[in-house]
Amino acid sequence: MSERDTYRTIPLTDQRQAGFALPRPAQLLVAHGELTDTLRRPLRDLRISVTDRCNFRCNYCMPKEVFDQNYAYLPHASLLSFEEITRLARQFIELGVQKVRLTGGEPLLRKNLERLIEQLAKLRTLQGKPLDITLTTNGSLLARKAQSLKDAGLQRVTVSLDGLDDAVFRRMNDVDFPVTDVLHGIEVARAVGLGQRDGQPTGGLKVNMVVKRGSNDQEILRMARHFKGSGIVLRFIEYMDVGATNAWRMDEVLPSAEVVRRIHAELPLVPLEPCAPGETAQRWGYAGAHGEHDTTAGEIGVISSVTQAFCAQCNRARLSTEGKLYLCLFAENGYDLKPLLRGNASDKEIEDVIGQIWQGRGDRYSELRGSLPPDRGGGARRVEMSYIGG
Ligand code: GTP
Ligand code: 5AD
Ligand code: SF4
Ligand code: SF4
Repeated sequence: MSERDTYRTIPLTDQRQAGFALPRPAQLLVAHGELTDTLRRPLRDLRISVTDRCNFRCNYCMPKEVFDQNYAYLPHASLLSFEEITRLARQFIELGVQKVRLTGGEPLLRKNLERLIEQLAKLRTLQGKPLDITLTTNGSLLARKAQSLKDAGLQRVTVSLDGLDDAVFRRMNDVDFPVTDVLHGIEVARAVGLGQRDGQPTGGLKVNMVVKRGSNDQEILRMARHFKGSGIVLRFIEYMDVGATNAWRMDEVLPSAEVVRRIHAELPLVPLEPCAPGETAQRWGYAGAHGEHDTTAGEIGVISSVTQAFCAQCNRARLSTEGKLYLCLFAENGYDLKPLLRGNASDKEIEDVIGQIWQGRGDRYSELRGSLPPDRGGGARRVEMSYIGG
């Protein structure tokens, strides 16, 4: 038994079975797009998990000891169909959503995902603009799929990559997957034009690196050097206490301030303004000779959910693979929308139910993290990130 196994907690309850009762459909009394929750946060971003399966076993997300051959993944019949997902996306748009992120598990494992993207790409926001559709992937199937994803209407993509050193990367994914294949996937994504307009980078091709102190933090500077000037935006994510299985420990979190300090010492950085309200990442640009932002060198981002919570502007809703709505990444319960979809609820009724759920939202887990008693938010009942999406 490895040292890791001795302290890993395996939850005794399966949180996927838990759920809140749905509010009764009653007409919403707010204008479309003006919906806010109890903390005055609008609904703008919908993250849809299209599968709870993944071919990697990153130990911060799907540790091998829990997600083994005996793990009960969702049966196919319980997954939302593409038509059901698109119908819900339309309802969410009516309530203000402008951006949809497809996640998993690994979303590219879902068969014919391109057909879903085609359907979503036809939708328009309340402002009449195309929906901003993006995807988070581990990159393992990207080389094969980038062209068909682009053709289906995907414009941008975020690839998870936790290091450049092959041995470190294989240890992080825990399935011995080589780093060269992911780097090739990123190159193909760029070659087919994902994250670009008229041949110029739009910032829509991103790489996310989860930093775990003592596991891959020695890769930070190498990653920064590799992606500097590439047009690809590299973001460093603080290792979070999501789910109930990753045996999270604060001493394995490397604060973003330290990430910035280490990079700045070698490659000077200047702070940049946020692009949009509610953004997860704080942006830093590479400095030019006179301390200005050298836009040709590009930028990095740091996502500091542990040391600097960003709940105050959190406009994100999450839809699980089987149609449960979660109001926070750290939620213990979701609202099962599937009975509405598979019953005879009208579009308007579904929209009103979702609107009421959002109006009642007060979640702000990361802000409360330090002050919660051990039995609240302590983790044993939290839903897994592979189930609700990152
Ligand atoms: P862009 O629109 O491309 O800027 O994406 P994003 O930053 O909104 O989403 P992305 O999925 O790339 O987020 C990166 C990481 O930030 C995720 O993998 C999570 O680790 C973390 N994250 C995203 N949303 C939240 C959130 O609402 N709460 C917390 N605590 N972490 C989040
Ligand atoms: N902490 C931070 N980010 C995580 N992700 C998954 N688990 C964690 C965690 N414990 C995020 C990573 C990965 C995406 C799929 O989910 O960003 O790239
Ligand atoms: Fe799979 Fe992404 Fe989770 Fe890693 S972080 S196990 S690639 S879903
Ligand atoms: Fe939003 Fe919850 Fe993350 Fe806070 S912890 S930013 S409320 S998802």
